[in-house]
Amino acid sequence: MPASKDVVWDATQWAPLIDDRSFLSWLVKVPSEAEQLRARPVTFRQMNRLEELWKENERATVEDVDRPGVDEEPPGVLLRYEDAYQYQNIFGPLVKIEADFDRKLKESQTQNDLVVRWDQGLNTKKIAWMNLPRLESGEVKLAVGDELKLRYAGELAAHWEGVGHVIKVPNNLSDEVAIELRRNDGVPDWCTHNFSADFVWKSTSFDRMQTAMKTFAVDEQSVSGYIYHKLLGHEIEPVTLRTTMPKRFSAPGLPELNHSQVGAVKAVLQKPLSLIQGPPGTGKTVTSATIVYQLSKMNPGPVLVCAPSNVAVDQLTEKIHATGLKVVRLTAKSREAIESHISFLTLHDQVANNDTHIELQKLIQLKGDQGELSSSDERKYKALTRACEKEILNTADVICCTCVGVGDPRLSKLKFRTVLIDEATQAAEPECMIPLVFGCKQVVFVGDHLQLGPVIMNKKAARAGLSQSLFEPILAVSMLPSRVRVTVSSSWEIPKC
Ligand SMILES: Nc1ncnc2c1ncn2[C@@H]1O[C@H](COP(=O)(O)OP(=O)(O)OP(=O)(O)O)[C@@H](O)[C@H]1O
Ligand SMILES: [Mg+2]
Repeated sequence: MPASKDVVWDATQWAPLIDDRSFLSWLVKVPSEAEQLRARPVTFRQMNRLEELWKENERATVEDVDRPGVDEEPPGVLLRYEDAYQYQNIFGPLVKIEADFDRKLKESQTQNDLVVRWDQGLNTKKIAWMNLPRLESGEVKLAVGDELKLRYAGELAAHWEGVGHVIKVPNNLSDEVAIELRRNDGVPDWCTHNFSADFVWKSTSFDRMQTAMKTFAVDEQSVSGYIYHKLLGHEIEPVTLRTTMPKRFSAPGLPELNHSQVGAVKAVLQKPLSLIQGPPGTGKTVTSATIVYQLSKMNPGPVLVCAPSNVAVDQLTEKIHATGLKVVRLTAKSREAIESHISFLTLHDQVANNDTHIELQKLIQLKGDQGELSSSDERKYKALTRACEKEILNTADVICCTCVGVGDPRLSKLKFRTVLIDEATQAAEPECMIPLVFGCKQVVFVGDHLQLGPVIMNKKAARAGLSQSLFEPILAVSMLPSRVRVTVSSSWEIPKC
């Protein structure tokens, strides 16, 4: 134990030394006279801005901070929009700023001098195992399913590059990352040193947000008139949907609801737009699953159930499955290999386990045995898979996926009249827009607006309002006393027990 721990320090005795800057020369090199002549005062604001600029341009200097155009803030989000075009004109540029920033961040994360250990998966695909030092230092974030490009720039083989996706990230057992390569041909698997990894940036989520906002603007059928006006902050008379209320509000297979949960369910079933908020652990997800059960029984067509994160979607999927409804969990193709407790509910597993398409079963078996199919069999396999997916999706009571996942082409032909979004306060507004533009007539947002909001990396976009969820504007408008009744059709709070 260092003795200094036991010393009672009297800070006031040190103050004169600090005032005299006695330690300064220990901490920083004293600038030469010539350097002192060049020195000029820089404000905190300039320092902050310069640090932001460095992320986009490493060579930026303090002069660049005050250059016209550089420091311009984009127009911020509003509480009320004239129409969906104005909405798109404000949110579109913010999503673009965030997308550009995200791309630059990903592209700046290349890692060189990697040592690779080669392996082969059960599916015969080659797997590269490695340590990524910048991952260990926390500079880089990586998730299973992320795409990486691996390059060989050494001397033992010709230059090679191949794309793969992450199948394992560091855990308690090992710090290694595993990348499964898409193609086996040409891989220099006898080489171990001199590899580099580039992060492949994907625009998918940003593109889907932009597409949803465009659909919202140009397609009159994208959402009901009521939801259109509510999302734009317009005043509109409350509406009650003409449906028959259930006799019992709890759902089979789920806990019996408490008083405030029943209140929440009752309050939202006949309202076209509702917010349910409650602190962590108050039963919002159980309540959501119950609402989905009731909405599914009360209305024709499938209910679309979303959340911003895969973990939240899986939790909800499991609970909805417990009610006995026919649930399909749609995952991104890149995440299909990830096992979870609800794997059997995923669309790809339901396709693989279907027993109605005998020919498809044979082809799946053949693909498993041989690793690949002849091109004509591959075509047949793809067509049969599509047909089977369509059948499963068309007969589902509930389809669950992330908000961004709703933009999957496999859902593009479907209509979703009824939508529930859990953890909606953790999604940026344009992200919540994606599930809504499939003809939504009734939506329930569930969340905790006191928890952290969505993660927005770019400070400009965050300052302009991209970091707020849909809850804020809807609640903010509803909190204006004269507007309470007309603007929010339903806002229910589940209190802490
Ligand atoms: N009415 C109830 N009766 C018994 N148990 C309940 C009831 N409602 C919720 N629970 C249980 O309480 C726990 C928390 O519920 P739930 O996950 O729905 O809360 P949450 O508000 O969604 O939490 P989070 O804030 O973490 O998302 C779960 O184990 C759930 O089964
Ligand atoms: Mg929850």
